[in-house]
Amino acid sequence: MRVCILGTGYVGLTTGVCLAYTGHQVTCIDPVAEKIELLRGGGIPIYEPHLEDLAARARGNLSFSTNYEDGVPLADVIFIAVGTPPLPDGSPDLRYLRAAAQGVGAHYKGEFVVIVNKSTVPIGSGNWTGSLLREHLPESNFAVASNPEFLREGSAVFDSLYPDRIVVGSDKARGLETLYSLYRPILDQTFPAPTFLPRPDGLGAVPLVSTDLASAELIKYAANAFLSLKISFINEIGRLAENVGADIRQVAKGIGLDSRIGGKFLQAGLGWGGSCFGKDTSALISTAREYNLAMSIVEAAREVNQRQRDRVVEKLQAEFKILKGRTIGLLGLAFKPHTDDLREAPAIDIARRLIERGCKVKAHDPVSMPRFRKEHPDSGVLLASDPGELAADCDALVLVTEWPEYRDLDWDSIGARMRSRTVLDGRLVLDAAHLTSRGFRCLGVCG
Ligand code: UDX
Repeated sequence: MRVCILGTGYVGLTTGVCLAYTGHQVTCIDPVAEKIELLRGGGIPIYEPHLEDLAARARGNLSFSTNYEDGVPLADVIFIAVGTPPLPDGSPDLRYLRAAAQGVGAHYKGEFVVIVNKSTVPIGSGNWTGSLLREHLPESNFAVASNPEFLREGSAVFDSLYPDRIVVGSDKARGLETLYSLYRPILDQTFPAPTFLPRPDGLGAVPLVSTDLASAELIKYAANAFLSLKISFINEIGRLAENVGADIRQVAKGIGLDSRIGGKFLQAGLGWGGSCFGKDTSALISTAREYNLAMSIVEAAREVNQRQRDRVVEKLQAEFKILKGRTIGLLGLAFKPHTDDLREAPAIDIARRLIERGCKVKAHDPVSMPRFRKEHPDSGVLLASDPGELAADCDALVLVTEWPEYRDLDWDSIGARMRSRTVLDGRLVLDAAHLTSRGFRCLGVCG
């Protein structure tokens, strides 16, 4: 099928590359000329494991352009995957979505096309997109669909090729049928698995959930809100665990083995960051408000998440009594490992709070330091080229992002460079017994 993708962010680019790899002719369109130049030359403008390799293998089916004329006029399916950044009141800014829908309406020349909202859009956006398109195209020429993505940064390619489910929503049967055909190779897992990303053992056919538009739109918000509250739940239990002398990791294991609960997203620590959970929970609350509904559980999950970040300052203050003049080193800046994304990253908040209290803050991250320099030039945070340099003269190290390389540091040589051997494990991944045996004082955000 001929596919056109509008927007080459994490979602658009990963979707485009994966659909090209599974045999479709894909044109990715983005107004930023430098990005398109880079993509044409085989580069990838974001840090996402395996995306460059997969794009290289799909090259024959992929093209890139800044111009709607090159992909929209005869497409069978057009994905709108533009940004929907949050406005100050928490609701998403829909101006790029509007421009994309109007651009499609103005350029489409074929007989029938499915226009798919792939960005996380407010409930009702499908109807709105339809009304914008009707200003340019007859109703019989198009169907609007919602196809929410569930890909995680850092494992976006894996999640797209081997998803838990695919959700498609449309108010027209022809729209749904077109999307079944598009996703058939992934639903039936008939594409050859890339050698660098083998198909998981036992993965059979991928379930398809086909719905009306509003249900598909709500599924996305409900999924992200549920995952957010699972994390906040374990963090709240973690606070209690700390007080009663329980180990939250054991508690998470003990409840997670109940198949009704499940063990995923029960990793206690500094809580969630990233571009999705904060934005989507806030949008869900603001949508509910339009209907005079309160999302009290979701609101509580957000509060608990914010509180986890305060814990770092509280714990360090309890330990050192005076924070002014202390040097604190942050291990990790990205909001999670295997990405360089700093949006809503706990590290940024924590650094700011520590600096406000008179600390000198240093940081290290294996991949996100160049992006940090660009996006936070005035943060006051000093960047260190490796964990050893970070440790020099630190009163404490805080593990903020659980990059695998931080688990097995040479703690003897790290400790030798520190002013005091104190580590706060913000993700509960370090071996506290080992650290204690090397003379470290080991603190956790939950015990
Ligand atoms: C999320 C959703 O998982 C994905 O389905 C959606 O479509 C986009 O948003 P992403 O934000 O990329 O993906 O990362 P995810 O792996 O979900 O982690 C989000 C945050 O939660 C990270 O900051 C992570 O550190 C934190 N987290 C995750 C925890 O604190 N504990 C956990 O147990 C899991």
